[in-house]
Amino acid sequence: MTSTPQTPTDILLHTDAGVMTITLNRLERKNSLTTAMYDALSDALESANHDPAVRAVVIQGHETVFSAGNDIGDFLNHPPSTPDAPVFRFMRGISSFPKPLVAAVCGPAVGIGTTLLLHCDLVYAGDNAAFSLPFINLGLCPEAGSSFLLAQLVGYPRAAEALLLGEPFMAETALEMGLINRIVPPAEANALAQRQALKLAAKPLASLLETKRLMKKTHASTVSERISEEGASFGRMLQEPAAREAFAAFMEKRRPDFSKV
Ligand code: COA
Repeated sequence: MTSTPQTPTDILLHTDAGVMTITLNRLERKNSLTTAMYDALSDALESANHDPAVRAVVIQGHETVFSAGNDIGDFLNHPPSTPDAPVFRFMRGISSFPKPLVAAVCGPAVGIGTTLLLHCDLVYAGDNAAFSLPFINLGLCPEAGSSFLLAQLVGYPRAAEALLLGEPFMAETALEMGLINRIVPPAEANALAQRQALKLAAKPLASLLETKRLMKKTHASTVSERISEEGASFGRMLQEPAAREAFAAFMEKRRPDFSKV
């Protein structure tokens, strides 16, 4: 099975002064993520983990868009059906990444564009950031541990609103919910994330690692189990009529018709 080819510039990597910066750079498809890009992201995180010169990682997009989530065409052609699928490898990698992760989010952050933030330690958003967990509208279920982590972070009522209604919410709401750390003008978000990561990189590495490990310890095994359970449901549901209809509607630029599913 072949995957959608990744051009060498879809994921940009740059390491300087202890900070690895990962830039989502597939603007013509709104930074939606293909299987090849998930593998590139996983490889980058593994390399950052093992490289003693890297003490913090920044994940950023463009000031107009963070990520439109999974590439829908890629999902239709190559649905992740086994636990070793690139998307699940990425979820496991980011959820257990031991060094500090800082994200800069501007514009749309759809699906995994929002759920990956639940695994970041610091999140800075442009005032144009629009978060969205549209799984329900796609005939799917939550992923990346979000069915657990979101409620844990923002409380059940707000998590239920986000996941059961699937309506987007803006940066102000995300800040009030406690999902992000700060809102800045879009042109400043990447620079702020970089400054904060440089501060982290100047701290003693052993203290960074131990502090994060201790803070994450309570829920680490729950998160890991939930990612697997969600993944099994998500993979199955992708093949079912509701998701097929939702994705066909997106490709055909029409509203989905769920009346028969
Ligand atoms: N997968 C594949 N292609 C995508 C995509 C995705 N997730 N998101 C956007 N694109 C493509 C569009 O089809 C369009 O292609 P075209 O130029 O050939 O028509 C191009 O990227 C630009 O997208 P467009 O929708 O015109 O941009 P926008 O600024 O009006 O809206 C979004 C941006 C992100 C709000 C919108 O594209 C969107 O909702 N995308 C789908 C998100 C989604 O459901 N993701 C799956 C989550 S599991």
